[in-house]
Amino acid sequence: MTKKLYIKTFGCQMNEYDSDKMADVMRAGEDMERTNSPDDADIILFNTCSIREKAAEKVFSDLGRVRPLKLANPNILIGVGGCVASQEGETIIKRAPYVDIVFGPQTLHRLPELIAARLATGRPQIDISFPEIEKFDHLPIPVVEADAKNSASFVAIMEGCSKYCTFCVVPYTRGEEVSRPFEDVMRDVSELVAQGMKEITLLGQNVNAYQGEAEDGDIVDFAYLLQAIAALAGVERLRYTTSHPRDMSQRLIDLYATTPKLVSHLHLPVQSGSDRVLAAMKRGHTVLEYKSIIRRVRAARPDISISSDFIIGFPGETDEDFEATMKLIEDVGFDASFSYLYSSRPGTPAAEMQDDTPHEVKAARLKRLQTRIDELEQQANQSMLGTVQRVLVEGVSKKDVSEQAARTDNNRVVNFRGSSDLVGQFVELKITEVVRHTLRGEMVS
Ligand code: SAM
Ligand code: F3S
Repeated sequence: MTKKLYIKTFGCQMNEYDSDKMADVMRAGEDMERTNSPDDADIILFNTCSIREKAAEKVFSDLGRVRPLKLANPNILIGVGGCVASQEGETIIKRAPYVDIVFGPQTLHRLPELIAARLATGRPQIDISFPEIEKFDHLPIPVVEADAKNSASFVAIMEGCSKYCTFCVVPYTRGEEVSRPFEDVMRDVSELVAQGMKEITLLGQNVNAYQGEAEDGDIVDFAYLLQAIAALAGVERLRYTTSHPRDMSQRLIDLYATTPKLVSHLHLPVQSGSDRVLAAMKRGHTVLEYKSIIRRVRAARPDISISSDFIIGFPGETDEDFEATMKLIEDVGFDASFSYLYSSRPGTPAAEMQDDTPHEVKAARLKRLQTRIDELEQQANQSMLGTVQRVLVEGVSKKDVSEQAARTDNNRVVNFRGSSDLVGQFVELKITEVVRHTLRGEMVS
């Protein structure tokens, strides 16, 4: 009988990707399909995130919620993976003794063996080691699910991070930067294109730090990889996330002038607009250097949309530091952001720093920043009114089932009236209206 697998994913796109890989691994090992409800699942997996405290704590409340299912049916298996698993390890079993398996982001490919060992020994299994790139070697060839028609796919090109920003747990939970071999990435992209995928997003914590080994032993960088993928017939759009300012080489920037398949959207985390805070975060660049990157990217691709990550309330952030961040926002004109309050993470250097700014002050700063970036987004959206955009149709609109939702090159969602047969196709839409964060359009015949 087909077994049912429920996976709850917390956090970033990398985790979404890893959850899909967990499902691939489980399907390859056993006759198994994914379900949207834990109630009818035989295996329940939590793919966790520890980037901020709230996300990490949520895992334990969610585990508490599935506990009655395990009590009612002891044959159900419960697994905890991802970054909280990596950080907490055995503590998870201590806090939630009904958990059967604990595995890290780098050992998800070992799930079938861990399950077999759990069943054979009757004891919980823990494997949160960092066996380097082994994970990718053991993942099945990517297969597009039959119901995934939107023609956009993700490919992880590297794992981990070696930057050690003082606030961040990633180097400890996912390990140091390891790049996948060049030919392996090319094979995955080619497989996906052969299955009808038109848009590829390259994934990693710091994709532009990519240093992949080629078959001839040469090491190739991110700009080389992008060029090689863009040269593949069938790849129509190329995105990547996330990148780091320190690794924005001039060769990479130049691609914006020569490679139309590379989208007109760059998400480049800056975190703060104060040199003092950037140094305390150990980001390895100044505000001026960041602005110089943006100026050169815009020289290569004038209409590019720039978004960023911000951390507000880093230990010791003063009003002056925050005003410098607001000034950077004006200078660059970011039109989207992921912005959060600083969250102290155990084991990171910033957790030891003096932090005496009251929470209300930090919250007010965050609100001001988000309001301003919202306004800039509205302005950018208004400037798209009347233009014709080539969009990739992603699926039925969330708000109105008679409409389709599509994505522009610069990462905006546009809803329009059209048949669901268009899903997975590129169409041209004239932008007719701006409705908060989304646009409305009409098909251009
Ligand atoms: N390559 C990216 C960069 O250049 O920063 C790193 C991606 S990191 C996994 C994702 C984002 O999580 C960071 O950009 C940062 O804004 C946020 N983040 C990480 N640690 C955090 C913390 N302790 N508190 C709040 N936000 C945090
Ligand atoms: Fe984290 Fe900084 Fe790396 S934010 S993922 S340590 S670039």
